[in-house]
Amino acid sequence: MSHQPFPQPARAHLLPTDFRFGVATSAFQIEGAPTADGRTDSIWDTFCRVPGAVTGADTGEVACDHYRRMPEDVDLLADLGVDTYRFSVSWPRVQPGGRGPANAAGLDFYDRLVDRLLARGVDPWLTLYHWDLPQELEDAGGWPHRDTAHRFADYAALVFDRLGDRVRSWTTLNEPWCVAMYGYADGMHAPGRRDREAALHAVHHLLLGHGEAVRRMREQAGPDHDFGITLNLTPTLPATDSAPDVAASHRADGLGIRLYLDPLLRGAYPEDVTADLAAEGITLPVRGGDLDVIATPLDVLGINYYFSERVTAAGPPLREEGRPATGLGWPITPGGLTDLLVRLTREYPAVPLVITENGGAFPDATQADGRVCDADRVAFLAAHIDAVAEAYDRGADVRGYFVWTLLDNFEWAHGFGPTFGLVSVDRQTMARTPKESARWLRDLLRAQRRPQV
Ligand code: FCB
Repeated sequence: MSHQPFPQPARAHLLPTDFRFGVATSAFQIEGAPTADGRTDSIWDTFCRVPGAVTGADTGEVACDHYRRMPEDVDLLADLGVDTYRFSVSWPRVQPGGRGPANAAGLDFYDRLVDRLLARGVDPWLTLYHWDLPQELEDAGGWPHRDTAHRFADYAALVFDRLGDRVRSWTTLNEPWCVAMYGYADGMHAPGRRDREAALHAVHHLLLGHGEAVRRMREQAGPDHDFGITLNLTPTLPATDSAPDVAASHRADGLGIRLYLDPLLRGAYPEDVTADLAAEGITLPVRGGDLDVIATPLDVLGINYYFSERVTAAGPPLREEGRPATGLGWPITPGGLTDLLVRLTREYPAVPLVITENGGAFPDATQADGRVCDADRVAFLAAHIDAVAEAYDRGADVRGYFVWTLLDNFEWAHGFGPTFGLVSVDRQTMARTPKESARWLRDLLRAQRRPQV
């Protein structure tokens, strides 16, 4: 079979030589081994047992068996030539039940992971919370309950104490919007609650927990440590110029973007959003001093970008007919990423930006010779790296780009159906096969690293 040349991001040469390229994963989606070495249930273990909660009744019990295959997986990502690996720590693995002392056996796994990454020349980038709250903390009220923020700061200090000597990059939370809205308002994600007021209380306690955790870790940190948070930012555009559509888009921007960025970077919740919430009878549970904690200065802001969407006053966001979309139906909108990065640099106080996730679910075609062809993924990644380079060229302070994700994995409520990986995983044998996109990325990174003459 003849090969079409892969598309290349035409502007990638504009990125500086110290620009970080990485891949990202998360603990629950790949590790498996839910009871190994003292780990207890997280809310996702519980949620997977609820009939109908996850497509195909899939669970994280085996996931990608990464807990046992970690060395092989580190070799795979080192072979890609990435300089950074973003992974998350499973809270109930390192602090079963979410309170009390660290579980040394659970921490040992991340200790070995970090050592192996460093030995292979890959910089570890650690996320403390990628959605796997210890079940006992949910039973005590979960994120809508203020105490969970304090428990999170304790947990952060335990992990930092063990790994802070080797891990420089620390992210507190992954996507607090998803944690709060999917978990507590829509019920689509663990813990599956449907209570909008509880979800908005969760937003405040997530941000508070983030700020407390950064403060606790900074007490022990050195000048080389970087602390940040990762937000999923979905830019909205009005579907038409009509006043109701423009207002609807502004409201969506408020609830999806400014409700997080404003307290984190400016120390205040946006007044239009709190007024809208008050009209619904919802008040954020802010106490004196909270906003100072939340606005603790960041060294980096992580952004997970998947798409931008058009909003109408009439109903849910428009999925425009005929527009290119991924296998999950998510619109493919690389230009939205350029605009977002330029906007953040223009409108908010200066903070370095890193794209901590970007990628797409596409159906992959395995050829007779075993190659996994994923031209759609290659085109998607090329277009988005290009969009980042354009933003950089327009003055955005963007320092890195991480692909979601290394392995085809447990895609939350969708189960194992949608495949986002650079590497496919045979669900029977767990055998890993790098896809064509993995080869493409390796070649791109080699070219990027080549000294420019
Ligand atoms: C993000 C999540 C990540 C993955 C991608 C597709 O919202 O952070 O775990 O599921 O979506």
